[in-house]
Formats: sequence, structure tokens, C-alpha cells
Amino acid sequence: MTELTDGVEEILVDEAALQARVAELGAEISADYRDRDLLLIGVLKGAIFFMADLMRQIDLPCEVDFMAISSYGAGVDSSGVVRILKDLDMPIENRNVVIVEDIVDSGLTLSYLLRNLEARHPASVEICALLTKPDRRENDVECRYVGFEIPNRFVIGYGLDFAERYRNLPYIGVLREDLIADGENGQDIHRSPVAE
Ligand code: IMP
Ligand code: MG
Repeated sequence: MTELTDGVEEILVDEAALQARVAELGAEISADYRDRDLLLIGVLKGAIFFMADLMRQIDLPCEVDFMAISSYGAGVDSSGVVRILKDLDMPIENRNVVIVEDIVDSGLTLSYLLRNLEARHPASVEICALLTKPDRRENDVECRYVGFEIPNRFVIGYGLDFAERYRNLPYIGVLREDLIADGENGQDIHRSPVAE
């Protein structure tokens, strides 16, 4: 019998630390947007867990919308091609937007998304990323809100997947090395052709 936790090498951020940090981010965003209308945009699918908790820590009237994006490329080095699978339901012109992401790695997904959203003339756009890896060199996007800076390892849980599994772990864990090597998506774990 395979257990959900079998793929976890170690726990990087436990449930209590996650929830505490999400509450801090929610308080920060609440203070910053006190007098502005706020639209949270989540990037499917990884961000929905973070979004659900974060939004409940924001004590302002605010709205939520989602986009689904797919990135293509060979292995972990992306070609830079990003495609919108599901667009926003609402226009964002003159809105104050905060993009909510699970993790910023190369920054490629977000730099594309930023350019795309800015072309729709919102009043402002900021990024709130639960996790960032230090190695995001190529497309250095400015993240206004960051939950945790983590080492350059492949992480799972709290929305983050490995081949679509493990999103339902309540913490952030490091994926077992041997699974990365053996998995059929082994060389393409950062770039699955389905929504992130
Ligand atoms: P970027 O375009 O390189 O910044 O990649 C961002 C996307 O890659 C995230 O939204 C995730 O879907 C995926 N990703 C990057 N690193 C990890 C990881 O450590 N675990 C799970 N997914 C990851
Ligand atoms: Mg993914």
C-alpha cells in the first residue's frame, strides 16, 4: 500500500509555520490595500490552497479570479513559451491586482503573466508568492510579498505537485531524490504540459 507521505524526504515548512506566515501576509496585504479595491488573481492549480487560506486572512472586501497557464520546454530549462489555458472571467482595467502564486522558480511563468496583465491596464499589479527559490536568475520578477525563501530543491505539498500528486499534503515537503530520477516525468518535473 502506497502512503501519501512515502514521497516525502523531509518536511521543509510545517503546517503551523505555513499558517502563521499566511496570516502575516494577509495582515500585510490588508494594511497595504486599506483604501483600494483589491482583486486577487490565482494561478491554477497550485495556488488554490494558498489562495483559500490567504484570502481568509485578508479583512477587506476583495474579489478573486483565476488563470490557468501551461509552460512548454525541454527539461527544467524552459523555452519561454507560455500559453493561457483559462483566462480571467473579469476585466482588470483600473483594478488593483495581486497575483497569488505557489512558487517562483525561474520566474518565467510570472514574467509572462505580468506582461500579459499589464497590457490590460490595471491600476497596479503586485506579486504574492508563497515560496521563492534563490536560483531564479533569468527572469528576475519583483515579488512584493514572499512567504518563504527555500533552497533549490523540488518541493511538494500545500498545492505543489509532482506529476499531479501530493498537492493535498498539509505542509511543504522535499520530494525524495530517487523519485525524481525514476519518475516517468523525471527530466521534466518543472514543466508539465498541463496547468501548473
Ligand atoms: P517558473 O516559471 O520557473 O518560475 O516556474 C513556476 C512553476 O513551476 C510553479 O508555478 C510550479 O508549478 C512549478 N514548480 C517550480 N518549482 C517547483 C517545485 O519545487 N515543486 C513543484 N512545482 C514547482
Ligand atoms: Mg506544477
